[in-house]
Amino acid sequence: MKVAVNEQQLRAEIKKWKEEGLTIGLCPTMGFLHEGHASLMEASAASCDRTVASVFVNPTQFGPNEDLESYPRDFEADCRLLESKGVDLVFHPEPSDMYEDDFCTYVDVDVLSKTLCGESRPIHFRGVCTVITKFLNLVKPDRIFFGKKDAQQLAVVRRMVRDLNFDVEVVGCPIVREPDGLAKSSRNTYLNDKERQAALILYKSICLGIELVEAGERNSEVLKAGMLDKLAEEPMADVEYVEVVDGSSMQPVETFKEGDLVAMAVRIGTTRLIDNFTAGENDIKAG
Ligand code: PAJ
Repeated sequence: MKVAVNEQQLRAEIKKWKEEGLTIGLCPTMGFLHEGHASLMEASAASCDRTVASVFVNPTQFGPNEDLESYPRDFEADCRLLESKGVDLVFHPEPSDMYEDDFCTYVDVDVLSKTLCGESRPIHFRGVCTVITKFLNLVKPDRIFFGKKDAQQLAVVRRMVRDLNFDVEVVGCPIVREPDGLAKSSRNTYLNDKERQAALILYKSICLGIELVEAGERNSEVLKAGMLDKLAEEPMADVEYVEVVDGSSMQPVETFKEGDLVAMAVRIGTTRLIDNFTAGENDIKAG
């Protein structure tokens, strides 16, 4: 496995592969990798000749009071995991390699970026879309892989790719969970033992939502009320939102239908966690 730390090194590798006619999969990450990330690499390795993973804590997607500085980092451990998953090349630039001092060009997907997480993180998706655009221009992959854990991010990137005619297939991969149901996240490391236990309430609320849907409930307000009641059982849970939205536009819907998304953001202590489910594709069981 090779590591490219700047644009020149990355472009040199990509050029060789393109000349050989090989297909390329790209898995963008911010590092501190876990099995959720690994599932993207596996999907890429299974369907592309070469897999590139990026490990880059992207400063432009963090707000002024967010966890850019404290975001967990362990590049050596990341490389061990990436190598074991068959990744061929890791792109690990410094922020200064990606953003010149006078950088001033951003990609902003309107409408979809404004709801859900966009309400409390107004510049977040602009930062994501900008860095993904840069990665797409650098790597020119055939496929790019994202987790459904960040469902709004996936929807925003899909829209950007469509609206700006990027020649890439966007692949969404299922949410990977801990054995007790908590969605895997690099930010789970922020949780102390008590908070880790309390964080299970997200999964319990998701399971209740799925149960309600499976029992035939389609009214968004009823779904939301049930899920909020469940979250209220945990005193440490501070709910930012529970919302039912159209899976493509990320706008609220009154009636839940195939393709729609039920998403939540909840703070446990100072840690902000997200989770979601989509109609018709839930492989988890309520329990
Ligand atoms: P990061 O949080 O590191 O996540 C990288 C990718 O892994 C995302 O596509 C995310 O959805 C996926 N992922 C994380 N946890 C997952 C889980 N439990 N199950 C399935 N997939 C999971 O998302 C980002 O980084 C950044 O915004 C990035 C896209 C890299 C742009 O900077």
